[in-house]
Amino acid sequence: MLSIRRFSMFALRSVRLHIKKIAIILVTVQLLLTIIYVLNGGLSIIDGGWKSFTSSFFEPFTHTTRNNFYANFDLRSKDNVVRLCEKMNFDTSGEWIDTYTLKNNLLTVKMGAEKGQVLNSVEDLRYYDNDPRLIWSVVLDHLLESDSNEYAFSWYDWANFDSINKLIALKNTKISCQFVCEGVFDKEVLERVEREIQERLFFTNRNKYDQPIWYNKARNAVGSNSVQQIMHDHCKNNDAYSGGTPFELPFIVSKIYEKLRPEVYDLHTKNHLLYSNFTPLSLTVLDSDKDVYRINLRKADSSKSNIVQTKLLRNYLQRHKDEMVNGDLIFNHTSIFEKFLDHASTKKRKLNIEGLDKTIFTREYLELSPSDFHFDAKMKITELESKLRSEGLSSHDTHYLQSLKTSITTAPALQKKYFAEASDVIDATAEGHHRDRRFFSIGHNILDDPQEFEARLTSLIRTFQKFIKANGLISWLSHGTLYGYLYDGLKFPWDGDHDLQMPIKHLHYLSQYFNQSLILEDPREGNGRYLLDVGSAITVRVQGNGENNIDARFIDIDSGMYIDITGLSVSSDAAKQYMSKFVEEEESSDKSFSTLIKDYKFNENDHFDEVDGRVGLAKYSIFELKEWVNSHPDDFTDAEKKQVTNTYKKELDISRSDSAEKDLSPKERYLLNEKYNLYNCRNQHFSSLNILSPLRNTMFSGVSAFIPNRPITSLNNEYKVPPRYGFLTFQGKVYLPEFRYWFSFFDVKKFANLQSRDPKIIRLENPLNNLKFSDINLLLTNMIKCGFHSIFANLFNSFESTVYRLKELEIQYDLSISEEEKKKILKVLRGEVAKNMKSPVKDPVIYTYEKKLWERVEKLMNASNLYDIVLQVEKRKVEEFVELSRQVYKRKYDGFRLPDGGSGDAVTDLNHIGLNLFGDNKKTLNDIFGSDQKY
Ligand SMILES: *[C@@H]1O[C@H](CO)[C@@H](O)[C@H](O)[C@H]1NC(C)=O
Ligand SMILES: *[C@@H]1O[C@H](CO)[C@@H](O)[C@H](O)[C@H]1NC(C)=O
Ligand SMILES: *[C@@H]1O[C@H](CO)[C@@H](O)[C@H](O)[C@H]1NC(C)=O
Repeated sequence: MLSIRRFSMFALRSVRLHIKKIAIILVTVQLLLTIIYVLNGGLSIIDGGWKSFTSSFFEPFTHTTRNNFYANFDLRSKDNVVRLCEKMNFDTSGEWIDTYTLKNNLLTVKMGAEKGQVLNSVEDLRYYDNDPRLIWSVVLDHLLESDSNEYAFSWYDWANFDSINKLIALKNTKISCQFVCEGVFDKEVLERVEREIQERLFFTNRNKYDQPIWYNKARNAVGSNSVQQIMHDHCKNNDAYSGGTPFELPFIVSKIYEKLRPEVYDLHTKNHLLYSNFTPLSLTVLDSDKDVYRINLRKADSSKSNIVQTKLLRNYLQRHKDEMVNGDLIFNHTSIFEKFLDHASTKKRKLNIEGLDKTIFTREYLELSPSDFHFDAKMKITELESKLRSEGLSSHDTHYLQSLKTSITTAPALQKKYFAEASDVIDATAEGHHRDRRFFSIGHNILDDPQEFEARLTSLIRTFQKFIKANGLISWLSHGTLYGYLYDGLKFPWDGDHDLQMPIKHLHYLSQYFNQSLILEDPREGNGRYLLDVGSAITVRVQGNGENNIDARFIDIDSGMYIDITGLSVSSDAAKQYMSKFVEEEESSDKSFSTLIKDYKFNENDHFDEVDGRVGLAKYSIFELKEWVNSHPDDFTDAEKKQVTNTYKKELDISRSDSAEKDLSPKERYLLNEKYNLYNCRNQHFSSLNILSPLRNTMFSGVSAFIPNRPITSLNNEYKVPPRYGFLTFQGKVYLPEFRYWFSFFDVKKFANLQSRDPKIIRLENPLNNLKFSDINLLLTNMIKCGFHSIFANLFNSFESTVYRLKELEIQYDLSISEEEKKKILKVLRGEVAKNMKSPVKDPVIYTYEKKLWERVEKLMNASNLYDIVLQVEKRKVEEFVELSRQVYKRKYDGFRLPDGGSGDAVTDLNHIGLNLFGDNKKTLNDIFGSDQKY
């Protein structure tokens, strides 16, 4: 959730990041090209045929003749480099730049002494990159072939193990538990590892290890006694390993320890994942945002069931040997994916959830009903138990039933914290408290590369939105995510997670059908893979001890980033003071909420659903529980006693609060909340039916999303939204409406050259809050000159999404358009403009893949020539951006001209519809966010 405190924290972080970024860009351009890449070696590419070639670590690249790993993609060709530069930065489609082949991608050794050598067969593989093209092809083909809907899952095939592969690749260098249990890597071991694999083990902050002052300080902070203890408690030797055993590491992290630097923690936790016996229950496969398919997973020893170990790959090659050309084979995963979708057997894999309506996203509005905010757990348990007796339960149902039964015995005061973040990871820029501790990773460059960071976070929400749309699940943007949406239809660039709310009924659908499922994005669109994880006590709807404010998370298994999902329901928590006015408004009486409460006649017999169905201690009020604990002290741990005391104090706090309900009993609060349709999440954020419903359908990050009916009201219950739309500043951030984007002011000062520091950068003469059209070109050109490449890429790629939001605002806030008319126009906008919208970010897997190719190009090409290529590509993109902006400015944007009803010649032109919020004649709307607009 985005609190104001976090806002300022992010301001700081962002400034820090930007300083770092500039340093990094400098390093990248000047140093890396010359020093690191040469040091890296990595140039021992085979010449001509498929014979082996070895090079020493320090061998300069100039005298190796290099063949390309990528048969269809010669990295030395200038055209290809231009294409790569353009694709990597500005093409956000799900397309791959090359084809995946057996020889080039799978069998060619990528690191170490045998780099470039081509293995004879897949039996010789000791590790491989789990490229989605390989995995999808093999797994889907297997399912179709075996007419099965179940297979043995391995994390190795679905999560990113790039960093671990570098350790598996080692044959000579000995590493032990100690390497991944020390806060900072032992530099000597690190260098030995890198020398053997002829690669950097990691990139982010790698240079710090070469700074003696930093390194010695960091090492001294590691006490050797405690390291022994940590190793003993968290790690053990792997008996199955003896130098170079395929897919094995010499040690097994049995329990995660967190106080490590991010690069150490990355390997530590990846090792843990590889050897963990925790597997998802199923794979959920998306067909775009239309349909969902379910693949069951067999519980296997997940560390030994990858597609090589289970022979799935070998069998695949057998079946496809006729397609081999010169011993090579193309893995065309999109073609197999389409075959899978069309296959007769796939019908039975399709998921249609009874009770959900898949058409909700086609409507402009979605009415919610009070029943969406109630859930009868007792009835659900009865229903599932009877189903268990008659026809048996799916593994998801079994799991869910078990969870419900546990949940109803859980006293709110005694819930255990369910979700765990990597909060103790050393180095605040790693944002450990915003990452799931099991999946935390530094990726290729997540911490340093804003493009990779944005790609990860935005792909996360895009896939989630496609997922709920394909199922007909209801959820809406909330907190910081909704706030960001307001301005440009995107998240705030500095926000490190997403927040969504759901009605409790739908949180239960989500739990029953998807808890512990790995959700896979349509591979034609992207390569997202996310674990849906729902907490264990979701029938508890009050804050209780406060340790489980979040109900569910949608977790990126390649970074640990997540979406926080909270359910809203009627509960006995005291409605916040800010809700009083909504009750009064709804009642349209002159009485205050407090008076309404005084006048209310509670009936002894009114049903208190919240405790109905609860069992044992869970039925007790906090007062009763406290008494019970006092009289049975031996039955509770100290931690539990403390939880009870804390919860008790919170209850007392209510009576001292300004809530209109402060003098009521929990039961009375429940009844009133129910009567007035007041709903809350477990973090006591309150909303009401009339704030939420009907939900409005819109676009967020280029995909469909719902927002509350009264977004401003909803946000103002939590933040203070400035009424103005236009130039804005906020805690070190600047919103420039001409770009529809939030920048750090620190960056803006540079690329506007406000302090005339750099004679080569043309100074912005117009005031920032009153830019002229011509300033767009000036600022973009400067941005690139100053090295803000990724900011420009993010700007360019989000153009369609942000211009969409601009048009939506222009229509919504135009008082001259009738409500009916607005509805119609917005429907056209959503139906016609939105459907062709490109993704505002790259798919992170494709981005990383291309970035690695790019790093190879950097080794091959003369740095200054390469720099020229980049500048040329960017210059063209700036021109394109300016041209598109000109169209919007002149209200002649092609994207807003629509073929009407398919008749061909008639065109609906949305350009002139609505206010003009862009350009020199723009209206400054000082008050549009002052209140919610009716439309
Ligand atoms: C893969 O198959 C798709 C769909 O059948 C086709 O459009 C595409 O060209 C193929 N790609 C390659 C590299 O053969
Ligand atoms: C989700 O799965 C986890 C892990 O098995 C379990 O602990 C939790 O209770 C489940 N939650 C629900 C709501 O089913
Ligand atoms: C790169 O090429 C340019 C011109 O083509 C040349 O002037 C420069 O010396 C070359 N730099 C290196 C490092 O080879």
